[in-house]
Amino acid sequence: MADPENTPFYITTAISYPNGRPHIGHAYEAIAADVIARFQRLRGRRVRFQTGTDEHGLKMARKAEEQGRTPADLADEMSGHFRAMCDALNVSYDRFIRTSDADHHCASQAIWQAMEAAGDLYLDRYEGWYSVRDEAYYDESELQDGEGGERLSPQGTPVEWTVEESWFFRLSKYQAQLLELLKTPGFLEPASRRNEMIAFVEGGLRDLSVSRTSFDWGVKVPGFEGHVMYVWVDALTNYLTGLGYPDDMGDFWPASLHLIGKDIVRFHTIYWPAFLMSAKLPVPQKVFGHGFLLNRGQKESKSLGNVTDPLALAEQFGVDALRYFLIREVAFGQDGSYSPEAIVQRANGELGNAFGNLAQRTLGFIAKNLEGYLPAVNGHNEADTALFETVDRAITTDIPQAFESLALQQAVEAWLQAVFACNAYIDAQAPWTLRKTDPERMETVLATLYICIAQLAVAISPVIPESSAKLLDMLGIPETLRNLEGIKSHWYSPLAESGYQIAPPTPLFPRLELPAEDG
Ligand code: MF3
Repeated sequence: MADPENTPFYITTAISYPNGRPHIGHAYEAIAADVIARFQRLRGRRVRFQTGTDEHGLKMARKAEEQGRTPADLADEMSGHFRAMCDALNVSYDRFIRTSDADHHCASQAIWQAMEAAGDLYLDRYEGWYSVRDEAYYDESELQDGEGGERLSPQGTPVEWTVEESWFFRLSKYQAQLLELLKTPGFLEPASRRNEMIAFVEGGLRDLSVSRTSFDWGVKVPGFEGHVMYVWVDALTNYLTGLGYPDDMGDFWPASLHLIGKDIVRFHTIYWPAFLMSAKLPVPQKVFGHGFLLNRGQKESKSLGNVTDPLALAEQFGVDALRYFLIREVAFGQDGSYSPEAIVQRANGELGNAFGNLAQRTLGFIAKNLEGYLPAVNGHNEADTALFETVDRAITTDIPQAFESLALQQAVEAWLQAVFACNAYIDAQAPWTLRKTDPERMETVLATLYICIAQLAVAISPVIPESSAKLLDMLGIPETLRNLEGIKSHWYSPLAESGYQIAPPTPLFPRLELPAEDG
């Protein structure tokens, strides 16, 4: 599963509209992408990871107008919050892109010109429905009636009748190619999202309106000044901008994975590939549409007053506890639910009791009884070998395979099973008893645990990077070993022989309490 070839892996999140502050859904997507990026680095791939903000369009223009400010001013402030959120959550992006960046305007105009050169753009008049909330055009047949008889999009958002001169993209021309792409195994996951997209394409594709004239907050259509690009045209192009398009993009394109929410799958698996086909660029390898996070089973909304600030959660419970919870709790791809109680329970039970205590007991015991010197190995018995086998299977097979196939929850489950095995081992071997009866065996038991703990700390580092690093520091594991290949090697004797001494451990996962108002 390790990758000595160092092959490129390009992962992106959707870029967020900075029309307000980030909410828990943004944090969830950024964290999930970060876990995947960190896992790929761990297995030795060259990773590029991009996230950012999607700043143009009518939604931003209107929100700014409501607040009596310019869209640029609104975007500057809110984009800062998105970036700060990513930084606070240890999201290891290589570029935080803003679609107001100069190179992005240049890239968007370049892809426009490529589509124009392909003969895929023509001027006409758009007459139809538009949802500002979704920044999406809808066909009459897709709409539903609201309670007061108003027309609503399939997502339940208001739509407005729009008539204006517009450039169109020949989406219909790509129908057959898109169908073939959508049917390619692995292109769109989870597979359960495929049928809807296939049905949409089979239902017949209409050409897409790709420019607007009624406002000017966007990327200018090259050579046609009265028009700005439809926000999704420039937004999707962000994935290329970050690699240097229209100049040489190196070997990171096509993207390995666009990670997005399930509500924007149509844009990523139909419009985006069609733009790329038109511009004669390869299409992304995979698009994964994750589910939504619910607050105690309910959607968050301003009217319900249950909107959670992800940074407040991270402050309350700790960044790693929040990251761990989100990945552990939700079957990736499906909707999930969270509550402070559930976060506290997982963090205390699994991180604190199961893993933290294991490390604490083992390191504390070594510090106290061996002056911190790494224990000697005096021949392993069957119990040791069985534990090594269990941990080895987890770190070489079960965990990497699960991460690789984006079964993030299963990866954590496999890790936790191995942690449980270590706990069962420490209880059965009882080093505290061996201290008097068989000090040599005690050392072997502690060495066995020490090795397994280091391996498990590396394996879970994509999910809890800060705590893992802290533990690996305490263990004295050099940076060069902190990857899936290195941690399997025979590093223990050299480290022990180097005379390394561990200090009395400090707690990794402080016990969490529920604040009174939540309890
Ligand atoms: N801003 C869009 C949304 O929040 C997502 C844009 S993703 C990209 O729904 F593809 F355009 F980059």
